[in-house]
Amino acid sequence: MCDEAGVVTARPMDHSGHGELPPAGAWVSRKGERAYVYDLVREADPEPLSNGPVTGSSAHLRALPTLTGVRDAQMFGWSDDPVQQFRRWLDGAIEADAPEPHAAVVSTIDDRGIPDGRVLILREIDGRGWAVAGKASSRIGSQIRARPAAALTFWWQSLARSVRVRGVVVEAPREESDVDLAARSPQARADVAPGDWTLWRLEAERVEFWQGSTDRRHVRVVYSRDADGGWTVSASRGAEAVTLP
Ligand SMILES: Cc1cc2nc3c(=O)[nH]c(=O)nc-3n(C[C@H](O)[C@H](O)[C@H](O)COP(=O)(O)O)c2cc1C
Repeated sequence: MCDEAGVVTARPMDHSGHGELPPAGAWVSRKGERAYVYDLVREADPEPLSNGPVTGSSAHLRALPTLTGVRDAQMFGWSDDPVQQFRRWLDGAIEADAPEPHAAVVSTIDDRGIPDGRVLILREIDGRGWAVAGKASSRIGSQIRARPAAALTFWWQSLARSVRVRGVVVEAPREESDVDLAARSPQARADVAPGDWTLWRLEAERVEFWQGSTDRRHVRVVYSRDADGGWTVSASRGAEAVTLP
């Protein structure tokens, strides 16, 4: 049985281990709450859930694989410029069909100093920085107004690659925000009050490229902004500092 949203509601969670369990990925109603059942234990093991590690327990979570993507940790061919290097990795992610490779977690800080994060789409990347957009009236808008700083985290699972960018945030001129809004679908535009859609650019002061490696000596290449506006690049492989060729 499904509710109006097409969500499975008739199959209760079964904790006894004897009855029928809802299919993995189904929404179920449990004492009025909704829980998403993503039953990796049952996929791996046909035994009832109660005979295996409890979902969400440390044993269960430890058993889940990580860094299963293609790991290609190279110490050569790095650009001197993090924007160039980012473009190469983004192109690599696009070519490798990484899902939604331009989506990033954007972290900001609230007025109590507590970090907040949400996923946004990268709108543009050039010498001016990493541009993202959202509503000025939303939490991200008020947090950036109060503290114009942010971090972006990209994670390309299929390549075992992540990029972290942090720095100050500059609001783009109104015309640029309007151009960005105009490029969105009519449905997306209909959802935004006039003047609310805002383009922000993150001017990086630190950019870290992280590449998972089969031998677990993961590669980390960090670009740090100098006082004169240039970049200092440092690299490591596992615990060992490495000089890039
Ligand atoms: C894949 C994905 C892409 C998203 N892209 C955007 C975006 O570009 N701009 C935006 O305002 N919200 C986007 N959202 C929604 C945000 O994650 C978030 O819910 C919204 O910005 C409100 O966040 P806030 O309350 O912290 O301001 C996206 C969500 C997902 C999952």
